[in-house]
Amino acid sequence: MTPQPAFDHRDAHRFRIGLAPISEDQWFEPVGSDGDPAVRKAQTFAESPDLCWGETPGSRPGQAEALDLLQAHLGLSPVTDGEVPPLRRAAALVDDDLCLMEPGDGGWTLTAASLCAPSFFSALDAVGKPLSGLHGPVPGFNDSLLPRVSRIFDALDKDTLLERRNWSVVASGELFLPSSAPVRAAQPSIRAEEAAERLFVRMERQSLRRLPRTGGLLFTIRIWRYPLSDLARRPGEAEAFRKAWDGVMGETGQDFRTYKGLADLDPLVRHALAKI
Ligand code: HEM
Repeated sequence: MTPQPAFDHRDAHRFRIGLAPISEDQWFEPVGSDGDPAVRKAQTFAESPDLCWGETPGSRPGQAEALDLLQAHLGLSPVTDGEVPPLRRAAALVDDDLCLMEPGDGGWTLTAASLCAPSFFSALDAVGKPLSGLHGPVPGFNDSLLPRVSRIFDALDKDTLLERRNWSVVASGELFLPSSAPVRAAQPSIRAEEAAERLFVRMERQSLRRLPRTGGLLFTIRIWRYPLSDLARRPGEAEAFRKAWDGVMGETGQDFRTYKGLADLDPLVRHALAKI
């Protein structure tokens, strides 16, 4: 079984900032079972270039700093290659997706992104948008979380790295999920007895780090996922997941379950959990 972070059920049915400091050696989580990221990402790029990669004019200095920082972190000698944009080169070195955030007219803006494991968004839609536009569909984000997140982005010092996690249940084990429509359309075809194999816990681990030279921020996204049937081999995890699911289906989980489309999955998830 692939080593992966434990499922944290605390407050898992609410939208939250949930940023916590980490040390530099925790910047990237251990290599998983998705193979060489350079190979995987090159294939995704060949199949869907516009969905998985985008950059705005003027973002190259920030991209180059992100590449330098990553190469230094990984103990690699600095290598540049004029052909491939620096952030894409950086993304080939790690499992994570990489997003460059820089100040813009509408606030912190996504100026370049390599997204080969997106959870229902794409570079085509997202690059060039400020935090407010990126989070338009997230209930309450722009009213309550945006001012606080923007202040954190403004103030983050170069030596403080932050991480946050989120989760969902998704009817697909694919890494590259730029759109929710085909995944949600497949849900009605899932029979109860198949649910444990066809529904996946999908956990996202994100990190945030300042690029001191150019002033931007590097935001990383790593996906961990496993079918619900794996919970049977993860006893503590199964209990944590059960508590989180009950929270989402309870009164205070309404925004969260509607946004993530989880209500329709309740009978299937409960059927899978009953067998664990
Ligand atoms: C680091 C501070 C951030 C916080 C606290 C935050 C918070 C959130 C929350 C609460 C959600 C709803 C799903 C969930 O996480 O439970 C979300 C979704 C999302 N976030 Fe963030 N976010 C942050 C940074 C970013 C950045 C830098 C990007 C740039 C790519 C981004 C892009 C998105 C997108 C595309 C979604 C999905 C929106 C949709 O449903 O269309 N977030 N974020």
